[in-house]
Amino acid sequence: MLDSNYWRGNFCIEVNPAPGALVIFGASGDLAKRKLYPALYHLFRRGLLHEESRIVGCARTFYDDDGFRAHIAPELVGGSEAQKSDFLKRVHYHAGDYGDPEFYASLGKLLERLEQGAELPANRTIYLAMPARLYPPIIEQLSGAGLLTEPEDGSSWRHVVLEKPFGRDLASAEELDLLLHRYLKEDQIYRIDHYLGKDTVQNILMLRFANLIFEPVWNAHYIDHIQLTVAETLGVEHRAGYYDQYGLLRDMFQNHMLEMLAMAAMEMPASFSPDAVRDEKVKLIKAIRPFDLNRLGDSVIRAQYDGYRAEPGVAPDSRTETFVAARLLIDNWRWAGVPFYLRSGKRLAARKSEIAIVFKSVPHSIFEPIRAADMQPDTLVLKVQPDEGMELTIQAKQPGPKLCMGGLSLNFRYSELPGGESFEAYERLLLDAMLGDQTLFIRSDVIAGSWRLFTPVLENWQEKCPLAVYAPGSEGPEEAARLLFREGREWRPL
Ligand code: BG6
Repeated sequence: MLDSNYWRGNFCIEVNPAPGALVIFGASGDLAKRKLYPALYHLFRRGLLHEESRIVGCARTFYDDDGFRAHIAPELVGGSEAQKSDFLKRVHYHAGDYGDPEFYASLGKLLERLEQGAELPANRTIYLAMPARLYPPIIEQLSGAGLLTEPEDGSSWRHVVLEKPFGRDLASAEELDLLLHRYLKEDQIYRIDHYLGKDTVQNILMLRFANLIFEPVWNAHYIDHIQLTVAETLGVEHRAGYYDQYGLLRDMFQNHMLEMLAMAAMEMPASFSPDAVRDEKVKLIKAIRPFDLNRLGDSVIRAQYDGYRAEPGVAPDSRTETFVAARLLIDNWRWAGVPFYLRSGKRLAARKSEIAIVFKSVPHSIFEPIRAADMQPDTLVLKVQPDEGMELTIQAKQPGPKLCMGGLSLNFRYSELPGGESFEAYERLLLDAMLGDQTLFIRSDVIAGSWRLFTPVLENWQEKCPLAVYAPGSEGPEEAARLLFREGREWRPL
């Protein structure tokens, strides 16, 4: 167990919360109730929600303020009753029809009233926690009511937070982007990828760029390959309506997987400013070699779990994939020739997200008869979830009078840190949206870059990649194992 003096010389890059209003569209929905309000409450308890800030929920379902407070109260965990009621005092509700201009006009008046009452600057963060097809009409209405216009003197801002999906291919993503940019500047748009809110994902940047020891070996000279896994035990649950139309490549690869890959593989940004970090991500994504469409099946495996078609809401003849494994190459000096193997799937043997950096074997062994090739390669695993932390496996002498050697794991677990309260990804992201820090939000060129890579795959794979089947609770399809096996490698067990 780690002692309470564990952290030596820690620094925080945090800024004090700015006062403002947070408007949540889709406030009576699942995301708002289960994630957003609890995250805001948590921020409030930590003193990271400004005293004067107000939260206005908007939805069609009718509630008055008190009725809505009672609706979300059971989701607020921890803290005293006084803290809870103090938080709930800041929560307001505005019911109405999203298609009715009057709804937006009265929202504007409500915001002005709350801002004047608390002498708040009119900083407003508008969170659209709703299906993406509703973005265009709502954004047009918000703009029509003047709710997206920032004052020219720069005295306050308007931010709009959006959830994925950002299109379903390059063309639709570009269309959405055009619409957004008709009403908003890029620095007003906060596109969420909730993986970027995870501590362990952010820690990739600290690990790589706040330490000296990793950078010299973080390249093709020392790294044999990298494996990136996001495995889930859950199936589609109640989301078949969305999922069966999108499938795993769009749901996980285009966003979470590629973002994590970019964090692990990009060059060091010149600073930690939002654009410096995102510039490097784009560069990296652009350097990924396009898939060879004539031999797509050699580098992309798609599969569906047995029983998927019987899930409620799934078409009985659905060809939607619930698993994808892919082999990528990055054409730059750092990564030339290093394969990146990515896999993600639903209903697999375990819930596990990790990035494993597998180093090359030593060039020569002095420990005869053990050959260099017999030694387990050093492996650094960045454990994103659920056992958050990091594990470095190295070769070491086993204790005892005999001369034996084996792989030894140095294991760091976030859960063993004293006082380490868990932090929901949404807390970090809500906080940043309210602070105006876009570092952890996806810029439009990153989205375009990732669709540019995957759209040709989506257009060709029905024909070029047979849909494999895998057993629920398994490690995935045989075909995915073969992707590595034929190159003399294997996936880490789930
Ligand atoms: C979401 C996907 O973005 O991420 C879901 O739409 C998936 O299908 C989820 O289950 C996984 O997130 P997490 O944080 O549970 O790994």
